[in-house]
Amino acid sequence: MAAAFLLPGDDDVLLSCLCRPGCAGQEMEGGMTVAELETMERESLDAARGAMDAAALDQVRVRYVGRNGLIPACVKQMKDVPAAERPESGKRLHAWRAGLEALLEARKAELAAPAAQGPAFDCTLPGRWHATGAAHPVSQVIEAVARIFARLGFSVADGPDIENAFNNFTALNTAPHHPSMDEADTFWLDGDRLLRTQTSPVQIRVMTRHRPPVRIITPGRCYRRDTTDATHSANFHQVEGLYVDTRPVSLADLKSTLAHFAREMMGPGVGVRFRPHFFPFTEPSVEVDFSCHVCGGKGCRVCKMSGWIEIAGAGMVDPRVYRFVGYDPESVYGYAFGMGVERIAMIQYGIKDIRSLYENDVRFLSQFG
Ligand code: PHE
Repeated sequence: MAAAFLLPGDDDVLLSCLCRPGCAGQEMEGGMTVAELETMERESLDAARGAMDAAALDQVRVRYVGRNGLIPACVKQMKDVPAAERPESGKRLHAWRAGLEALLEARKAELAAPAAQGPAFDCTLPGRWHATGAAHPVSQVIEAVARIFARLGFSVADGPDIENAFNNFTALNTAPHHPSMDEADTFWLDGDRLLRTQTSPVQIRVMTRHRPPVRIITPGRCYRRDTTDATHSANFHQVEGLYVDTRPVSLADLKSTLAHFAREMMGPGVGVRFRPHFFPFTEPSVEVDFSCHVCGGKGCRVCKMSGWIEIAGAGMVDPRVYRFVGYDPESVYGYAFGMGVERIAMIQYGIKDIRSLYENDVRFLSQFG
């Protein structure tokens, strides 16, 4: 059909009759057909739905139902419609007008409603608060340790919590009668499987698969049949360290590495003490203490009045361990250490009871965010 041209602002001025194609304002013989009426109806309804504001909607109204609009023009044409078709066309025209007027009313209400202007937004309301999580203090310490050793060229190795007796004891030169292998100290599973009592078996796993140089740390969970109290937990974490090279490495390197670690972790004022000790898999062996951060070394309840807190075991890798993993003890040099993660977390954050680390109390944990 021909378009209905309305000049903007020229309401009610119909420039060309739109009742049918080619009509151009002259009434055409035979009037309009039902199909033409339907097409015009569809277009008018689409236009009403598409009007995005009151002014556009009013233009649609003027164009179709205004005094000089299309529907009145069509009404005038009814007389030219053949008598047989007139009832049908009349019904169509009537329905069109009623439908369009109802739609115009509905759209008018819709456009006037506040929702049409977008959702109400009150910028004076307080913002919505989202609780953000944080890494557990044990994880934070592990990350800090890993970062310090990464700068010294150590990479991170991983091993399973369920170990076999060879990796956890035998290859670490632990004699079959050693008390740590006792039922009372170790969680044995079926056969020779157990929950690892230390991270040291990862030393064995790494050395059996890699030739020297080896420079790894391995953080992980360990299990012992300890009765839980303020400083003991049946499961806890260690970070193991292993350095093996074909070039000479001495106890002096071990000491300077751990002293450097202590200062990086605790601050430049920390004291470090090495005490002779025994471990089956290192020779010589030492225990490593950091000066107590609470009393600064003077003696308090946290350090049991000694001024020192035990942090790690360490030593030069025993030649027998090298034999178990297929290294030649005559041509490699190395040291190992294993530190308690909870110990470090407790002195760093002043935590008095190791159990608070495992109770999952948000009031406790949220302090480390
Ligand atoms: N695995 C020892 C322990 O759990 C610590 C250690 C690791 C000692 C490496 C020496 C070398 O006590």
